[in-house]
Amino acid sequence: MAKRLIIANWKMNPATLKEARALFQATKKKASTVARASVVIAPPSVYLAFCKPSKKVLLGAQNVAWADKGAFTGEISAVQLANLNVTYVIVGHSERRFLGETDEIISKKIKSVLKQSLIPVLCIGELERDNHGAYLRMVEDQIRKSLAGIGRESLAKVVIAYEPVWAIGKSSDEAVNSHKLHEMTIFIRKILSGMCGRDLAHKVQIIYGGSVEAKNALELIQNGNVSGFLVGHASLDIKGFGEIVKAVDARG
Ligand code: 13P
Repeated sequence: MAKRLIIANWKMNPATLKEARALFQATKKKASTVARASVVIAPPSVYLAFCKPSKKVLLGAQNVAWADKGAFTGEISAVQLANLNVTYVIVGHSERRFLGETDEIISKKIKSVLKQSLIPVLCIGELERDNHGAYLRMVEDQIRKSLAGIGRESLAKVVIAYEPVWAIGKSSDEAVNSHKLHEMTIFIRKILSGMCGRDLAHKVQIIYGGSVEAKNALELIQNGNVSGFLVGHASLDIKGFGEIVKAVDARG
């Protein structure tokens, strides 16, 4: 089993640098006792330069440009992120897909991230579940298209974050259950096996995001067949996030 990973996606929070610094420091403190997991904080990009990563807490970005440099107003390149000591880059989050990001753009972004030796965290997930398996086709399509043109060896370096859109921003009661999650991880790994072979596919880390809270973290990590979480709203609550980190670290 790959090393466990908990990524805090702060999204467009908090409102001030002062709050961001305080939350970063408090999270660092919570993560200081973690033995078997990596904790990553992905703050809004304006705060990246003010958040100093450590051995226990790494830095993540929420988005990246597909180009290395040039006339791209408002964009931030993987080269610039690497210079700010970022290690992980979230790519293709559903909230960015809603803003028009396509699988083609996502694939270019992943290549740009890999070129800087950063770790892409590819977000995939269906909008809703149906009884005919259309949701599986959607997930498969996202994986194949978002990873198109990426070499077999590089594929193994990508972290896949399964984030069903219907489960995002709710409460733990409405998150995916561990049984459905386990099934989905098998499906994802089967697709990856077809793309890069069984051995490399087994190296790919699969994590889950979508209303992970202190209440459901232990059950999902124990029985969901994932090696970690991408946490949204609960990462802004230091106590709750601390409990999620503890649950992931404690799993047998
Ligand atoms: P929530 O944990 O708020 O559901 O957000 C999940 C997510 O989108 C993380 O990237």
